[in-house]
Amino acid sequence: MLSRKEFFRLAAGAGLLLTAGCASTGGANTSSEGSAGVVRRSALALPEPFRVPLPVPPVLKPVRSDDSTDYYSVTQQAVRRSLLPGVQTEIWGYNGIFPGPTLSSVRGRRVVVTHRNALPAPTVVHLHGGRTPAEHDGYPTDTIAPAGSRDYVYPLDQPAATLWYHYHRMDFTGPQVYRGLAGFHTHRDDHELSLDLPSGQRDVPLMITDRSFRADGSFDYPSLDPSLLDTPGVTSDAASGVLGDCILVNGVPWPVLEVSNTRYRFRILNASNARRYELALDPARTPFVQIGSDQGLLCAPVAHQTLPVAQAERFDVVIDFSAYSVGDRITLRNLSGSGSTADVLRFVVTSKAADHSVIPAKLADLPVLRPSDAVVTRDLVFARGASMRGMAMWTINGQPFDPNRIDVFARLGTVERWRVRAQNVEHPIHVHLAAFQALSVDGGVPAVGWKDTVNLDSGGRADLLLRFDRYPGRYVFHCHNLEHEDMMMMGNIQVG
Ligand code: C2O
Ligand code: CU
Ligand code: CU
Repeated sequence: MLSRKEFFRLAAGAGLLLTAGCASTGGANTSSEGSAGVVRRSALALPEPFRVPLPVPPVLKPVRSDDSTDYYSVTQQAVRRSLLPGVQTEIWGYNGIFPGPTLSSVRGRRVVVTHRNALPAPTVVHLHGGRTPAEHDGYPTDTIAPAGSRDYVYPLDQPAATLWYHYHRMDFTGPQVYRGLAGFHTHRDDHELSLDLPSGQRDVPLMITDRSFRADGSFDYPSLDPSLLDTPGVTSDAASGVLGDCILVNGVPWPVLEVSNTRYRFRILNASNARRYELALDPARTPFVQIGSDQGLLCAPVAHQTLPVAQAERFDVVIDFSAYSVGDRITLRNLSGSGSTADVLRFVVTSKAADHSVIPAKLADLPVLRPSDAVVTRDLVFARGASMRGMAMWTINGQPFDPNRIDVFARLGTVERWRVRAQNVEHPIHVHLAAFQALSVDGGVPAVGWKDTVNLDSGGRADLLLRFDRYPGRYVFHCHNLEHEDMMMMGNIQVG
């Protein structure tokens, strides 16, 4: 728990009084905690933080393998689980768990996943960060009907990276990811395996999400019923982003991880619908040493005191717990949260152990893209649009998503320069297929590495160099605030 002093400091900073475990006052209020959207207060008492051990999602075993390919089988189903003590929550999960099972692959071997849909709604699966042929990328209208199934084929001819898979159907991604349809896919390659990075039990994926709960334990996701929406021209609470008051890591509220006084690798993924985090260690006796970004290792490690993590971004970091003593408790805090959302996870150093891991000064040889590589420059503005039939909408260059309109024609094998800008509120922008390097983001120059999602503050800008290679076909790019995505903030790219 927060000390009283910390509690009052946080509460004063946020201008409202609330704490972990306090019950709902009912209805949404207008606090946005540094993220587009509105916090919904849970209608039941949230559990005390730091009581439950951090679970690690099970790694899925192939059902069979041949010379070139590993075959997996996943069933998407609705299941009741106990996420909070004393109540049951219906989740929609891959193999009935949230997060879904972790897929694990090595470059050079193809992955085929058979997805069976045992849900009462159509589904689409997208491998976020995967460089995937268009017909297997999970185009938002390319659905699997209830009781149906299909194979997704992933060549995964790309560097080691922390990828993730999630629901991606047009107009419904927000509610279904909220119900639990998200999982990790960790991809490795020979180069990464030749490094002595922390591994095994010391290589831990952390999926951070925020949720709110109704009194009966069910997830409290607002319906997008037009009667709940504001007057034309004003975005509704739901359409600007759904923020929860309970922080879950790997599906569990504010868990605890026991560690030895050694280096650990954490693959941090923000799988929240609309919440951004600013992560910090408390006490901060050691930095986060970032070794990787969305699509793989950086050229060189970068130390950070705090980590700003937007939706869908991945930060691959090493924390060296030798800076602490046995018995120390270290809290992973969210500096942009308040009250219950200011805490994320706790580490407790419980043992001493030998550590043979190394963080090399040079992590990877990456080609560095230059502006002169670009064959075309595009300017893309992400903004709130006018409302349609009372529904708030989000647009790119003034246009809401139309699956039948191509917004960008990109030539296969070329580099493009995209200058993107966020109006009104912040937008995390994600591009399928084409990994990119950022020349600048909100005025800063980021570390060199491949990314697929870039966070823009309200009024922010980024200058990106994207490489379109491998596969022709139709792909999407969109805002990864899932409520903005569902409310049309998406465009089509035809690669050919
Ligand atoms: Cu993670 Cu198109 O999405
Ligand atoms: Cu994606
Ligand atoms: Cu957005």
